[in-house]
Amino acid sequence: GKVGKRQVLFLCVFLGVSWAGAEPLRYFVEEETERGTFLANLANDLGLGVGELSARAPRIGSDQNIRFLLLNPLTGDLLLNEKLDREELCGPAEPCVLPFQLLLEEPLEIFRAELWVRDINDNSPVFLHREILLKILESTTAGAAFLLESAQDSDAGTNSLRNYTIGPNDYFHITVHDGEEGILYPELVMDRALDREQVPELSLTLTALDGGSPPRSGTALVHIQVLDVNDNAPEFVQSLYKVQVPENSPVGSVVVTVSARDLDAGSNGEIVYAFLYATERILETFQINPASGSLYLKAELNYEAVQTYTLIIQAKDGGGLSGKCTVVVEVTDINDNPPELVMSSLTSSIKENSPETVVAVFRIRDRDSGNNAKMVCSIQAHLPFVLKPSVENYYTLVTERPLDRESQAEYNITISVSDLGTPRRHTQHNLTVRVADVNDNAPAFSQPAYTLRVRENNSPALHIGTVRATDADAGANAQLTYSLLPPSDPHLPLASLVAINPDTGQLFALRALDYEALRAFDFQVRAADRGAPALSSQARVRVLVADANDHAPVVLYPPPNASAPCTELLPRAAEPGYLLAKVVAVDGDAGQNAWLSYRLLQATEPGLFGVGAHSGEVRTARPLSERDAPRQRLLLLVRDHGEPPLSASVPLHVLLVDGFSQPYLPPPEAPGRAPGAGAGADEPLTVALVGALACVSALLVGALLALAAGRLCRRGGAASAGGCAGPAEGGVPGQLLDVGGTGTLAHGYRYEVCLAGGSGTNEFKFLKPMLPNLPVQGTGSNIGEKENFSNSLGFNVQ
Ligand SMILES: *[C@@H]1O[C@H](CO)[C@@H](O)[C@H](O)[C@H]1NC(C)=O
Ligand SMILES: *[C@@H]1O[C@H](CO)[C@@H](O)[C@H](O)[C@H]1NC(C)=O
Ligand SMILES: *[C@@H]1O[C@H](CO)[C@@H](O)[C@H](O)[C@H]1NC(C)=O
Ligand SMILES: *[C@@H]1O[C@H](CO)[C@@H](O)[C@H](O)[C@H]1NC(C)=O
Repeated sequence: GKVGKRQVLFLCVFLGVSWAGAEPLRYFVEEETERGTFLANLANDLGLGVGELSARAPRIGSDQNIRFLLLNPLTGDLLLNEKLDREELCGPAEPCVLPFQLLLEEPLEIFRAELWVRDINDNSPVFLHREILLKILESTTAGAAFLLESAQDSDAGTNSLRNYTIGPNDYFHITVHDGEEGILYPELVMDRALDREQVPELSLTLTALDGGSPPRSGTALVHIQVLDVNDNAPEFVQSLYKVQVPENSPVGSVVVTVSARDLDAGSNGEIVYAFLYATERILETFQINPASGSLYLKAELNYEAVQTYTLIIQAKDGGGLSGKCTVVVEVTDINDNPPELVMSSLTSSIKENSPETVVAVFRIRDRDSGNNAKMVCSIQAHLPFVLKPSVENYYTLVTERPLDRESQAEYNITISVSDLGTPRRHTQHNLTVRVADVNDNAPAFSQPAYTLRVRENNSPALHIGTVRATDADAGANAQLTYSLLPPSDPHLPLASLVAINPDTGQLFALRALDYEALRAFDFQVRAADRGAPALSSQARVRVLVADANDHAPVVLYPPPNASAPCTELLPRAAEPGYLLAKVVAVDGDAGQNAWLSYRLLQATEPGLFGVGAHSGEVRTARPLSERDAPRQRLLLLVRDHGEPPLSASVPLHVLLVDGFSQPYLPPPEAPGRAPGAGAGADEPLTVALVGALACVSALLVGALLALAAGRLCRRGGAASAGGCAGPAEGGVPGQLLDVGGTGTLAHGYRYEVCLAGGSGTNEFKFLKPMLPNLPVQGTGSNIGEKENFSNSLGFNVQ
């Protein structure tokens, strides 16, 4: 255009042609018209004939080289020489006018003309970038506008860019803005907020439209990236988690895994789990993995302590938003607690013989629950106790029947409690019940009767024996005291004879006992316990006094201490074995101690006489001769068999006579008497002699009694023969008289022997019982009533 104008001005100045005021000729052609297109006929337009015009040598002039017009000079037709591109010729300027001149010669005339190139819509709008990237924060609110790159359309006028549209969508529309120099640019306006979580990105087609008809368009792809904004809080899959955990779950096990979602991206979607609300106890018990949301056991659970935990767990994203959920952990019971037994009251000792007695009151419990807390309770079988259930798991242990301490003094009771859980748990409680003693047992002596033997002449306070009683009871009920009961015989001086140790039951002889005075005695002992009331029992004790050899034999005949020596007459004509005399002796002792034997100790003429060792008979051993001295003296020894033996000796004088012509009288045979050596017994003679003796006795009894009294007085206290010692405290009439098996007279009698005539042919020797005058050791007076009284009397008459 500019070039054109300048050319036009140039022409005006130099040619000075009168064109001012004259309208230039205008021709119109559409761009892109084909070459050779007829535009106009100049001859017609100028009013010239065809010949005239050609004669005037028409030419086309222009500022540029006119190439795009072609003039046919002959016909005056103006043709388009080439295809015109308006956009190339004029650019955006409008209208696009190409000025040219029409030159005619002769005369020179210049006509101004203009070729107006009309625009056709031959260009589409074009975007510089086919793709437009747009990043929009999702938080951007509706109404926000984003300017987009404008498209370009080379066409001009109505064919130029007119409008923009955007592909159908819910979020944006386009507004078109008129910028400077008529540039239209599109603006994307947000109708609705974008949610990245729903539409993370969006591609829209932006179409630019021109005003042509039909309009042409160009498109660009608008790529919208929605940028994340932390607009989503983490959200738990479940708002409430309920889990049941057995209380024995090991430490470290996972209780539950909570999980939350965050729709945001990047750090806005990264979730960290933590406790939002947790008591100290929860913090001690649970631990949460911040990344995985697993809830771990940090410590052991105990159903009995806490049954339910309520935790609030928070999930937090990187943008600081958080969500929460509640976790309820229900601890389930496991039979991990054994039953317990709580003793309320316990009697450790119960009295025997008492009826049903409460020994213990106790309660059982189990900290578990359900079946794990159901319990059964028992004690061992075969015990005299029963368990009685009471209210609310209370039990009483009572005796089933009266107990006997003496059969069992102590019971070990094991109370077993077990629950019904799986596995079953047990508890045992041991208790010892002692049965307290009641004095229900009397003392019992080891024997119903005791026989004690004491040797006479014992030392005073000699322990002679022990009575022993036992008491099945215990304690004071079994502590025994021994005592002597008053004797049934009021005359027995028991208190002076024996004493008993009240504690030990030992019996002591208080004084020396004398067998000869008291051979035996009985009494009763009593044992009493110290119970209240006390029980007692009795036993019989018999004390037998054993004999000791404390009496020497006493010779009765021949009288040892006669004032006139006892002289036996022996006829010289006596045969060997003639019984001269019989030694009579007694011994106060008994048994062996009183078994006497006789011996010839000395003789004037040894060998003339012999003595029966057991009979005491003195007999001639050989015939007498004239040479034998008329007077013979014998010393006889009497000895007992005690240990040690005691003895007595007695002399015997023998007078040998010639005129003693008395027939030989054999000695009478006494039962049990050992016959003397050479003794020829003649029964009729003996009977005659006894008869004679009886007659003479009757006649002379008075004189004899007088004589005996005289002798007794004369001998006085010389009654003891041999080793008898001790004071005589009074003999008792009716004293024991015993005849030993050997024919020896036992003690207790003294025999008076009298020689009636010193030289008469009939001599009577007789025995007479006398009051005993034996010394008795001890004080055994008034005793012996129970003894057998033997009235056997041995005597010897020659
Ligand atoms: C642009 O196009 C839209 C839709 O096609 C239409 O509504 C609007 O009127 C047009 N604007 C102009 C200036 O032609
Ligand atoms: C009871 O137990 C105690 C101690 O274990 C034991 O000494 C005693 O003999 C037992 N008694 C019974 C009657 O079993
Ligand atoms: C109870 O006694 C029984 C039998 O005597 C014994 O086995 C058990 O160990 C005792 N229990 C306790 C807790 O002492
Ligand atoms: C006889 O006398 C002696 C001595 O004189 C005397 O020891 C003895 O005891 C007396 N015997 C009797 C029985 O009197």
